[in-house]
Amino acid sequence: MTAATAKGWIKTDWRAKPRVQMPDYPDAGALATAEAQLSKYPPLVFAGEARRLKAELAAASRGEAFLLQGGDCAESFAEFSADTIRDTFKVMLQMAMVLTYGAKVPVVKVGRMAGQFAKPRSAATEMVEGVEMPSYKGDIINDIAPTPEARMPDPSRMLQAYTQAAASLNLLRAFSTGGFADIHRVHSWTLGFTDHDDAERYRDIANRIQDSLDFMTAAGLTSETNHELSTVDFYTSHEALLLEYEEALCRLDSTSGKWLAGSGHMIWIGDRTRQPDGAHVEFARGVLNPIGLKCGPSMEADDLKRLMATLNPSNEAGRLTLISRFGAGKVAEHLPRLIETVRAEGAEVVWVCDPMHGNTIKSATGYKTRPFERVLSEVREFFACHREAGTIPGGVHFEMTGKDVTECTGGMRALTDEDLSSRYHTACDPRLNASQSLELAFLVAEELSTSREALLAAV
Ligand code: PEP
Ligand code: CO
Repeated sequence: MTAATAKGWIKTDWRAKPRVQMPDYPDAGALATAEAQLSKYPPLVFAGEARRLKAELAAASRGEAFLLQGGDCAESFAEFSADTIRDTFKVMLQMAMVLTYGAKVPVVKVGRMAGQFAKPRSAATEMVEGVEMPSYKGDIINDIAPTPEARMPDPSRMLQAYTQAAASLNLLRAFSTGGFADIHRVHSWTLGFTDHDDAERYRDIANRIQDSLDFMTAAGLTSETNHELSTVDFYTSHEALLLEYEEALCRLDSTSGKWLAGSGHMIWIGDRTRQPDGAHVEFARGVLNPIGLKCGPSMEADDLKRLMATLNPSNEAGRLTLISRFGAGKVAEHLPRLIETVRAEGAEVVWVCDPMHGNTIKSATGYKTRPFERVLSEVREFFACHREAGTIPGGVHFEMTGKDVTECTGGMRALTDEDLSSRYHTACDPRLNASQSLELAFLVAEELSTSREALLAAV
């Protein structure tokens, strides 16, 4: 089979399109060497897995599943450890159980993990103590240390990112099927959380989940006899920003004759790189994976129309996920025009809410932060807007970690601006910590129950 079998698309076509947010590597020879090396490595994911995720996302678009997508803003080489992966995985499983309870449908779990290394930035350079240098673009591109040398884009970092992604995915697969993800275990962690006095308001839901588990056990449904209770499906995703890396991991799927982005199960296009004629859209349109598209306040109906036609020409369910990120107080102003466009086009999409990227502010103490109340407000506005339109809220997308960091303010433990300096570890944007993430899942579960009741009442 030749390179051009997938509807005439070639994996290098993006190179002829205008590119934004990508590094200019100073050493073309070193870049070619890294790309050649990566091209020989095995893909990280298998096409059948990407197709299965697409089918699960199609279910989410019909309200028969709900997407939980979460993880670091930027994975880092320095923070890479089994504990970090385990803790994020663990809290995502807890969140998924709580959400399942609210939604009464399966929760599709997708990590911003094992590949979330490249970052778009608002400015190409920054001033640090009077010295101008390239901005930090994520560990796959340059080093966060504030010197002009460290900030030079280095293509060999792509190989380190690949190795880290492979090891991360290996551990996630082991956790998913090796007994760690057992439903009873996951719920016992949640009971530990709701045992605290400050989590009292969530205890009732946790107890009701416990009752359901006890009932299942009594009815003979145990982890020993039912594989589904002791294993999970867990998928990976990242922003496909660094197209040299994506192209080098692109593989032809022999079953379908289509191209697979082998770097992760789902890839998304950022709000800054979604130009309909740009390089990122050109790359994404040719691969068979489910594609996410970030939709910020500047997304106009016409842009969305063109993007849907380009990214999902056959209107395949589960192929395209629209991840809206407007900011608290702005959802009602922007989301309805997108819903209207999707309706007018008869397009199949999954509606997902990212309540993080429109809610970043600078705290009084100088840290970039996100107030928990604003994150929650945006989620609630998203649900309200879909209830109003009669459309289906298909999922949520969070920047979060299982570690006890102090990056976002608020939540039941009421983190303040003054607390932020204590454990502010993110390599890029502020993440919800484990307690804030689980608390948010309880609150989203309440929204899901309300939406579900409204839908049932309308039938
Ligand atoms: C992100 O998800 O990390 C990101 C940069 O988002 P957006 O493209 O929506 O700004
Ligand atoms: Co971010």
